[in-house]
Amino acid sequence: MKILAIETSCDDTGIAILEVSKTGGFSAQGGPASGWNVLSNIISSQIKVHKKYGGVYPMLAKREHQKNLVPVFKKALKEAKLLKNQKAKKNQKAKSKNVKSILEREPELYKKTLPFLKKYEKPDVDLISVTNGPGLEPCLWVGVNFAKALSYFWNIQIVPVNHIESHILVNFMEHKTWNIKQIFPAVCLVVSGGHTQLILMRGIGKYKILGETRDDAAGECFDKCAKILGLGYPGGPAIAKLADTRCLSLDRHRVSIQLPRPMINTKDYDFSFSGLKTAVLYADRKIKNKTKKYKERMATEVQQAVIDVLLKKTIKAAKDFKAKTIILGGGVSANEELRRQLKQKIQKEIPDTKCLIPDTVLSTDNALMTAITGFYHRNKKQAWQKIKAKANLRIEKKPSEPFGSTA
Ligand code: KG4
Ligand code: ZN
Repeated sequence: MKILAIETSCDDTGIAILEVSKTGGFSAQGGPASGWNVLSNIISSQIKVHKKYGGVYPMLAKREHQKNLVPVFKKALKEAKLLKNQKAKKNQKAKSKNVKSILEREPELYKKTLPFLKKYEKPDVDLISVTNGPGLEPCLWVGVNFAKALSYFWNIQIVPVNHIESHILVNFMEHKTWNIKQIFPAVCLVVSGGHTQLILMRGIGKYKILGETRDDAAGECFDKCAKILGLGYPGGPAIAKLADTRCLSLDRHRVSIQLPRPMINTKDYDFSFSGLKTAVLYADRKIKNKTKKYKERMATEVQQAVIDVLLKKTIKAAKDFKAKTIILGGGVSANEELRRQLKQKIQKEIPDTKCLIPDTVLSTDNALMTAITGFYHRNKKQAWQKIKAKANLRIEKKPSEPFGSTA
């Protein structure tokens, strides 16, 4: 089957087309496994637009998604060799009118979508998978309404997927030989710009949030600290870049800055990162001469403070719940030090526990992870009329709901 996936939860416009066959790969049931064939995975980043403001502005991001979706979609279809011109002109007046009403709140997107639908044939895809939450609500709606328009026009059903679950399931892309029984229970650490959650996973669709941040997310903390230090947006990669150089020359410039490790010794699995940003702000105010060396030291310390807290709680959760696997996901999982230190700590403290870490290009937002999640939940198709964007969608299954990811 071929899955068309759409991801617009934050500031990346992503479209992927994934073909899944029945040979090779990882299967949810532990039975015949699935083989993944990525036909295309296109991302259009809005970093340049948001850089000026030092953060993501939802309405600006919504405008960019409207501008980018159709060109990104066209590129994804072309790369997948699924873009074909319409052979004969059809009378689609009524359909076009309805597309207009589906994209009522995205007029810029409508202007690009309609000519596209008139020009090209229905592509050979079986399912549309779209992120419907959590995320920035105006941005989520652009992707959801685009999915609805395509679903209606081409009569292809939609599976709405949870963005946090996608950050977890993207890990199953590469680990083809494992049996499901070797993986669960798993403890998942999802660290992104909007979320920091420790999740107990007992199977696909079976999640319990053990703890989460009470204020800022880990990525948000990196972004805010980087802003204070004048390192630009997004802050995570900027801090990591400086901190790396600093780490390499650790013995030449001793780290004299000490930041707190908020909540590191609490018994729960919650986090708090806003105090870290405040500590950086106060420390920064006292420094008159903000040399490169000072920034390197501070970046190293910010990165290490975040890593220390994340790892302490993750290892604790893995021990407490006798996890067979630790799964890492989300934009912050692109951080090389976090990846290295997590593997090192597992090796030292719980060597029998396996560790899944996504390829760095799949750590940050992309639509391939949306496609994979759509595949695992392919039986939860919904009629396009019913799908809604939900900014605060939770991964956890509520007792009255059949599945966690489509709550
Ligand atoms: O998952 P993601 O792409 O978007 C959200 O769902 O929020 O995560 C983006 C976050 C940003 O806060 C960014 O600064 C952070 O991930 N990030 C990093 C690195 N690369 C991206 N943080 C630390 N180190 C990195 N190398
Ligand atoms: Zn994300």
